[in-house]
Amino acid sequence: MGKIILTGDRPTGKLHLGHYIGSLRRRVELQNEGDFDRMFVFMADVQALTDNAENPEKIRQNIMEVALDYLAAGLDPQKCVLFIQSQIPELAELTTYLMNLITVSRVQRNPTVKTEIKMRNFEANIPLGFFCYPVSQAADITLFKATTVPAGEDQEPMLEVTRELVRRFNQTYAEVLVEPEIMLPANQTARRLPGTDGKEKMSKSLGNCIYLSDPADVVWQKVKSMYTDPDHLRVDDPGKIEGNAVFTYLDAFCTDDDFAKFWPEYKNLDEVKEHYQRGGLGDMKCKKFLNEVINQMLEPMRIRRAEFQKDIPEIFNILNKGSEKAREVGAQTMSEVKRAMQIDYFNDTELIQSLQKKFNE
Ligand code: TRP
Repeated sequence: MGKIILTGDRPTGKLHLGHYIGSLRRRVELQNEGDFDRMFVFMADVQALTDNAENPEKIRQNIMEVALDYLAAGLDPQKCVLFIQSQIPELAELTTYLMNLITVSRVQRNPTVKTEIKMRNFEANIPLGFFCYPVSQAADITLFKATTVPAGEDQEPMLEVTRELVRRFNQTYAEVLVEPEIMLPANQTARRLPGTDGKEKMSKSLGNCIYLSDPADVVWQKVKSMYTDPDHLRVDDPGKIEGNAVFTYLDAFCTDDDFAKFWPEYKNLDEVKEHYQRGGLGDMKCKKFLNEVINQMLEPMRIRRAEFQKDIPEIFNILNKGSEKAREVGAQTMSEVKRAMQIDYFNDTELIQSLQKKFNE
C-alpha cells in the first residue's frame, strides 16, 4: 500500500497565515515533491455545518474563498484532487457504520471537542451532529485510505479516534481500513501561530488574523499594530522575545536569505534577537522587516488569486471534477466495507444459496 495524503479545512472563513504555516504550505510542497500515490484536499462543509446549521449561506460563500486560497497558495488540480465533502454521500454512509464502533464517553474525552464546546457555549445543548464530528472526520480520512494527514496539532485527537476506529473495524469485520498518521509542521512555532495580538491562536473569532488574501496595505496596518513587548517603551530599553508576537512570526516565517535581501545589517534572526534583548533596536524596524517577509510570501498568491478569480465557473468545474473522482474512490472503499460487514446482500451468493436451502429443506 502506497502513500495517500489527505487533508481539509472547514469553509467557515478565509484562510490566514496560521493555516498557511500550519499546513497549507507543507501541502503544496508535498504536492510538488510528488512522492505519493494520491493526494486529496477538501472543503469540509459537512463539518462546518455541524455548528452552523442555521447559516448555510456563510458556508456557501466561504467554499469559494477557501478554493481561491488553495489555488492561490499553489494547490494544483492536475496534481491533487480538490473536492467538497458534502458531494460524497459515501462519507455519510461510512460515518453511520463507524458510529457503532465508538462510545459516547470516548468522544467526550476528546480534548479538541471539549475546547470547542466551551468556546461555543454549547454546554447542555450540543448539536448531536457536532458531537459526532470526530467520527465523521474518521470517515473523511478512512474512506480514502489516507496514510498521511498534514494538519496542526489540534487535529491529533481526531487522528487518535480515527486509528482506534480503524483497529476496531478491522478486528470486527476484516482488514479494509488503513491507520493514518498526522504530519505536523517541522517548525515548532508553526504548529500554533499566535494572533497579531499575541493571544494563543490566530483565529477569525478573535479578530487577530492576517489573511492570505489581505492586500499589502492591510498587512502593513496589521503588522504595525502587532503585539510586542509592552515594557519595551524606548528603543534603548532591553526587549523581551518570549511572548513577543513579532519574534514568534519571524521564527515561523523568515530565512537567512531574507536578511540579505531586506535587512543586510544583520546576518540572521539570532543577531536581531540578541540586539533586541540587549536594547537599542526598535519595534518598528523589526515590524518593517516582518512586513517585507510576509509580503514576499503573499505577493505570488495575490497574483495567482487575481487570475483564478476571473473565471469562477471554471473553479466550480474543478471542484465538481474533483468531487467525481473522490466519489469513485469512495465507492470502491464502500463496496469493500459493505462486503466486510456482510451487508452486500445482492452480491453475496453464499448467503443467497444458504437461505434458499434453509427455507426449502
Ligand atoms: N477538522 C479540520 C478543521 O478543523 C477539518 C477536517 C475535516 C479535516 N476533516 C478532515 C482535516 C480530515 C484533516 C483530515 O479544519
